[in-house]
Amino acid sequence: METKINIKTTNSCALKNPLHGIVNSLPGVYGVEADMFSGVIKFNHTNEVSAIEIEEAVRSAGYEIIKDSFAEIANEWDTPQRVKMVKDFVTEVRSHIRFSGEDIIVDLGCGTGLVGLELLDEVKFCNFIDTSASMLDALESKLSYAQLERSAILKGSLMDYTGSEIDKIIAHNSMHHIEDINALIERAKRTLKPGGVFIVADILEEDGSFHYPEVVPHNGFNTTKLANLFESIGFKILINRIYGKQIKKDKEYQKFIIIAKNIEL
Ligand SMILES: C[S@@+](CC[C@H](N)C(=O)[O-])C[C@H]1O[C@@H](n2cnc3c(N)ncnc32)[C@H](O)[C@@H]1O
Repeated sequence: METKINIKTTNSCALKNPLHGIVNSLPGVYGVEADMFSGVIKFNHTNEVSAIEIEEAVRSAGYEIIKDSFAEIANEWDTPQRVKMVKDFVTEVRSHIRFSGEDIIVDLGCGTGLVGLELLDEVKFCNFIDTSASMLDALESKLSYAQLERSAILKGSLMDYTGSEIDKIIAHNSMHHIEDINALIERAKRTLKPGGVFIVADILEEDGSFHYPEVVPHNGFNTTKLANLFESIGFKILINRIYGKQIKKDKEYQKFIIIAKNIEL
């Protein structure tokens, strides 16, 4: 599993590169790249060690890790309500587009992989991408050997994915956590094959109560503005509709789906 840890850096920390040796010495860890200027440590690891254990080793060496806000809920994420919400979303997606045994897909902001796992049996390969080590550990513990063979787990953002062979990117409830949507869609354009699609489901613009008291980059989205942004970057909007609602703390939030196709400009 490819993983990335973000640490807080200081000037003195940037002068040397001690973390490379610390992470590299852990069992099952290989391919370590530690950039002490940006505070990003990338590595691969086998099942001999979990991402959480690696983070603990980094913390014990005196480094502060930038917080994983999903750490406390990762193991309880798959509630019957969330599982149903994802099944309803996948049913909605299937009513608009087909998946094929040749498809290579990305489940972006996959969390515990609820969306990708619904689709894994009918596609060729799924890349699960998420910034949260704990959500990805929960996903990894659910994957059977056969499922592991047809999937990859990447801890990071779409910016860390360098391939360009993707047929479908699916982002369910993750886009409002991503700061720079413009940069994300531009990267998606380069990641998708011509004719590939970006499928987004999220909540409509709201007053900030959805995550309160936590602050997230976007309080939902204005779908007209989001669709215009997709078009300006070289996508054709195939679907833009409200398809359901999500109830949180007794309040209803409307859910939209946008399916945008990567076209030649
Ligand atoms: C609300 S959860 C949704 C998880 C999953 N898609 C689902 O529907 O169950 C949002 C997820 O987005 C992830 N996330 C936040 N920022 C991200 C980024 N820049 N790139 C990739 N994933 C991100 C979080 O770690 C979290 O797992």
